Amino acid sequence: MSEPQPVYLSDYQAPAYRVSHTQLTFELDPAATKVKARLLVERHPERETGLPLELDGEHLSLKSIALDGKPLEAADYELTEQGLRIPQVPERFVLDTEVEISPRDNTALQGLYQSSGIYCTQCEAEGFRRITFYPDRPDVMATFSTTLIGTAEPVLLSNGNPVEKGTLDDGRHFVTWEDPHPKPSYLFALVAGDLKKVADRFTTMHGREVSLEIWVEEENLDKTDHAMASLKRAMKWDEETYGREYDLDLFMIVAVNDFNMGAMENKGLNIFNSAAVLTHPKTATDVAYQRVEGIVAHEYFHNWSGNRVTCRDWFQLSLKEGFTVFRDQCYSADTNSAPVKRIQDVSFFRTAQFAEDAGPTAHPIRPDHYIEITNFYTLTIYEKGSEVVRMLRNLVGWEAFRRGSDLYFERFDGQAVTIEDFVDCMAEASGEDLTRFMRWYSQAGTPEIDAHGEYDYVTSEYRLTLRQRTPTTPGQQDKQPLHIPVRLGLVGTKSGRDLNMTLGGETLGRDAVIHLREDEQEFLFTDVAESPIPSLLRHFSAPVKLHFPYSREDLAFLLQHDSDGFNRWDAGQRLALLALDDLIAAHRNGVEKVMDSRVTDAFRTLLTSRIDDKAVLAEMLTLPSEAYIAEQQPLVDVDAIHAAREFVRQSLALALRDEFLAVFEANQSDAPYAPEPEQIAQRSLKNVALSYLMAIEDEKGLAFAQAQFDADHNMTDVRHALTLLVHSSRDDLASPALKAFGETWSHDPLVMDQWFSLQVTRPQEDAVERVKFLMQHPAFSLKNPNKVRALIGTFANQNRVNFHRLDGEGYRLLADVVIKLNRLNPEIAARLITPLTRWQRFDEQRQALMKAELERIKAEPLSPNVYEVVAKALA
Ligand code: PHE
Ligand code: ZN
Repeated sequence: MSEPQPVYLSDYQAPAYRVSHTQLTFELDPAATKVKARLLVERHPERETGLPLELDGEHLSLKSIALDGKPLEAADYELTEQGLRIPQVPERFVLDTEVEISPRDNTALQGLYQSSGIYCTQCEAEGFRRITFYPDRPDVMATFSTTLIGTAEPVLLSNGNPVEKGTLDDGRHFVTWEDPHPKPSYLFALVAGDLKKVADRFTTMHGREVSLEIWVEEENLDKTDHAMASLKRAMKWDEETYGREYDLDLFMIVAVNDFNMGAMENKGLNIFNSAAVLTHPKTATDVAYQRVEGIVAHEYFHNWSGNRVTCRDWFQLSLKEGFTVFRDQCYSADTNSAPVKRIQDVSFFRTAQFAEDAGPTAHPIRPDHYIEITNFYTLTIYEKGSEVVRMLRNLVGWEAFRRGSDLYFERFDGQAVTIEDFVDCMAEASGEDLTRFMRWYSQAGTPEIDAHGEYDYVTSEYRLTLRQRTPTTPGQQDKQPLHIPVRLGLVGTKSGRDLNMTLGGETLGRDAVIHLREDEQEFLFTDVAESPIPSLLRHFSAPVKLHFPYSREDLAFLLQHDSDGFNRWDAGQRLALLALDDLIAAHRNGVEKVMDSRVTDAFRTLLTSRIDDKAVLAEMLTLPSEAYIAEQQPLVDVDAIHAAREFVRQSLALALRDEFLAVFEANQSDAPYAPEPEQIAQRSLKNVALSYLMAIEDEKGLAFAQAQFDADHNMTDVRHALTLLVHSSRDDLASPALKAFGETWSHDPLVMDQWFSLQVTRPQEDAVERVKFLMQHPAFSLKNPNKVRALIGTFANQNRVNFHRLDGEGYRLLADVVIKLNRLNPEIAARLITPLTRWQRFDEQRQALMKAELERIKAEPLSPNVYEVVAKALA
């Protein structure tokens, strides 16, 4: 087998030829769709004359080809596995090709495929080359006109506006669409099939009327309200916040069941994984409602940050993704509870992105090479990219940031650009020097800050020392110091208040940002009125790990007094982590576990004090996840972590049973379901309390869980109750509930996904067997990415004790699935391997087992996707 070769950023060259207009005709057929393409091609003004024309093309069967109307002879062009090459072409010409493709057999879900009988496309990043021969790269931007010809498909959609419809002589019907905005091929889309729409309208800031349409299968017509409301809010928000107005008369969203990702921002025709758009109180949880809102907004925001201004090449992917994630995070913060949004985002980020940055696939936000671009739709590109944009916003301030954003959209409208172009606009608008800041884009790994503080009672000075280091990552040995903004306050130990801060004679106020630029810096605060505890990295002001030798008393103090809600939450997490450390050690040493009373006291205070924001309180009462705890350990002992965390949950439940009961009862509600922040907060608080009661299988708790399941009020409550029952030892209660739920919802794929997930996270020992059993269930299919994620992904990522079972059965199961998926859907297969790639973090026995499975995968004939991940994991 020849090894797939990487592509390098440093090899970038402008394309030899541009396409100014692309005209496509599709004659739809499940096994033999004909695609005719007419491309108006011209030499790129910056490239030399006489270069060959090279077009990408995969899995295409070429039927005809003509240049300026003249059919080409076989000797005039070369066909390879990757595409088509015409050695001699004029400066400007028209190229006509006709190919045949088979959407029915497309299980990779890239290019044109069928999902539940509906034709749809996925072209980002390099799917268009599976539709026709084309310079399939984002810096080739053309206007498109697309004709869809169908027989049995009542609905035929593509980008832009419909300009003509009719029936052909042979009875087939057609629709022609025109997209006036030049776009790269990755933003092309078509959808055809038996779909129904829900329509609405939006009037833009300049009074233009836009038709909004959400297209779904008929049975889902009652599940679009929330997505539509979210879309309108997002359109308004982008006008008010960024001055961005929508630019076509029509905006469409389509829901499909088979989709590799969450959703896709195709111009005017966003295609969504049905899980990211459909909601109904009876079928979707609060978390799902919030996810839908965030993704609808994200895809809509791409219309400017991504479509009007796009990426020059795929190394710049974070240019559109980091910025757009930042925009959707701010949107969600503005429409929901801002502190909770931040806590949830950071909590996820520190668990999953930190792990990625510390593993064998670590890469910079702008990678300098890749084998398979689909492997780079990562937490680093997306979420770390967003954190970096957030730092920029904070560094230059919102107003300069907004000016920089305006400048960026104005200067580069209709162009394919780079990350420098974006950062340069910010530098220009603010006058800041962002040269050192650029290192965030090229350096992989999570920077760590070691902080020390000393208070001098005599001089009233507080000396804060910050030292930074970034651990080496694969291919990057030497790390340079980064520009790290550290937002902080000094909390007085007597007053519990933020103290005024003076640094180098300058008054900073009570909450400020200091800038760490060198390996080590000392900050001397003068006139510090009392001995302080520093509250550092407020709001998670930089994506780093911060170490400070806090005592448990310090943390309990910050948990109560810190004026920054985020750091109050974080103090609680740190306090719990310290207690968990002891318990993990006790478990390993076979010593009796003793609960730290400071944690219990802190929880008691939280439960009995009046905290206005119930959603924040629910977060504070939630212990760090097993995955996050594992992140903190030098060597991961999954069993000790699980045992320690369960011990803490049970100890808290025993000590605070009445308090949890009171919170549960005080937050019950019969109000009709609404995905509103107050209701969501109340439900999460109530359900956290119920989780604790169920940790000790308290009689009342069991009765409440059963009653909540039976009441069938909304999916958030039903699913939570069912999960608690299924994860308990009470099979007599769990089995009938699980059966009833499975039967009620057997027709609804999104609910069945939840039914799968909540079973395979069971801590009981038979989890692996249950996964295997459920893989035989009629509702399961390896061809559907949502099913694979719900069952196998959830098991491998969230059921740590069972995935890491010492007989290796969990690993074997995952590898077996990866080997099968490698043929069906390489993109999903490559993503699924992630937990196996983290083998370095475990004991020797598990390391050997995990590596053996990686080797077994590597011995197969592999897709470039899986090859790249496995090769890195074993390097
Ligand atoms: N560009 C999409 C988004 O961020 C994600 C995506 C990538 C979807 C590749 C499909 C394929 O919203
Ligand atoms: Zn995106």
